[in-house]
Amino acid sequence: MDIDILTLFPQMFQGLFSTGIFKRAIDQKLVSISLHNIRDYTHDKHHIVDDYPYGGGAGMVLKPEPIFEAVESIKSNISSNQGGVLPIILLTPQGRLFSQEVAYELSRYSHLILICGRYEGVDERVRKHLVTDEVSIGDYVLSGGELAAMVVIDAVVRLVPGVLGSEASLLNDSHVAGLLEYPQYTRPAVYREWSVPEVLLSGNHAQITKWCREQAIRRTLERRPELLDKANLCVEERQLVDTLKKSNLPREF
Ligand code: 6GU
Repeated sequence: MDIDILTLFPQMFQGLFSTGIFKRAIDQKLVSISLHNIRDYTHDKHHIVDDYPYGGGAGMVLKPEPIFEAVESIKSNISSNQGGVLPIILLTPQGRLFSQEVAYELSRYSHLILICGRYEGVDERVRKHLVTDEVSIGDYVLSGGELAAMVVIDAVVRLVPGVLGSEASLLNDSHVAGLLEYPQYTRPAVYREWSVPEVLLSGNHAQITKWCREQAIRRTLERRPELLDKANLCVEERQLVDTLKKSNLPREF
């Protein structure tokens, strides 16, 4: 997967891409990430990227020309054998809400272009005539799209085949099956007199699987009950939810 990022602060991304799964994915050529400084696509002496809003008001607006030119330059460098749709995504609090589902959707493309907004906004012509999608990571305001882009890229890249050591670990992720993840334990079996649940030490894999699934359902019911409406549950699991709801679930279990 190729990812091009347009930003005024490319250095913000350095730490992320030089560590952990990103470093591995890039070294293994599963992912290729290119940072483009929007300022490099200006033509004036002072490399001005923003200007006052028409109609007045507070703050500055990112000018359209450098953003259009940066995207056009990226597009012109794509070899013709790489057909297909090329999403051009603007990170903005006005975008559609990012989720695990959107992460899966984006992970199916072979190429993404992300544009990080800054200041009070971006000239509307960028939205109307350049961008194909707008994404927000939540209902709060960040000072720029960079952190949001990092969130999106992290969630998407780990879904690219081969990036995680074991693809199986994806299946248990919180939100993947529409449930939160069940509690995890590792050694020691007893720490400060707090024991790991007996069933996990039993070696009985059928029982362990059942326990994990039930814990995931309980945890989701307690913390994010609205997720259960869309979760993929079998008849017995729906019955369990009903029973738990009636039994006044204790806060810790
Ligand atoms: Cl994508 N950008 C900014 N500036 N703030 C945000 C956001 C994006 N998503 C949530 N808040």
